Amino acid sequence: MSKALCIFQCLLLMLIHSCVADVGTAAHYGPPFLPTACFGGDASQFPSSNMFGSAGEGIWDNGAACGREYEVRCISAAAPKTCIPGQTIQIKIVDRAETSVSRPSARAASMVLSTTAFRAIANASASLINIEFQQV
Ligand SMILES: *[C@@H]1O[C@H](CO)[C@@H](O)[C@H](O)[C@H]1NC(C)=O
Repeated sequence: MSKALCIFQCLLLMLIHSCVADVGTAAHYGPPFLPTACFGGDASQFPSSNMFGSAGEGIWDNGAACGREYEVRCISAAAPKTCIPGQTIQIKIVDRAETSVSRPSARAASMVLSTTAFRAIANASASLINIEFQQV
């Protein structure tokens, strides 16, 4: 295969890759973190890094979302300079936002991030941000 063709295929793959990411919103929530909807209530399934979140109804997938991992990036918010530029996090779904014991900072978000995860990509004084996310 020629080098030019190879480079072209590589660019095409990168394009497809960026197209499979979804756009949505993220809120945040703080402790107590009790996985009432996932893992039969077993909190040992939580990543020790605290990089986790709860699934909004759009990705809850009737419980199949438990344990799925997503790459998440902040793209915009109501207040300027809310997103921390160039930051992408990887989080694990450990609960369902609709029923989480600790309530989300905003309703109807695509996902609700732990405060630790949210802070890594945005100013935590925002209650809702626009995100790009992709299952990994
Ligand atoms: C976060 O946002 C608040 C409110 O808009 C602002 O007062 C604060 O300076 C911001 N923090 C950072 C680190 O940008």
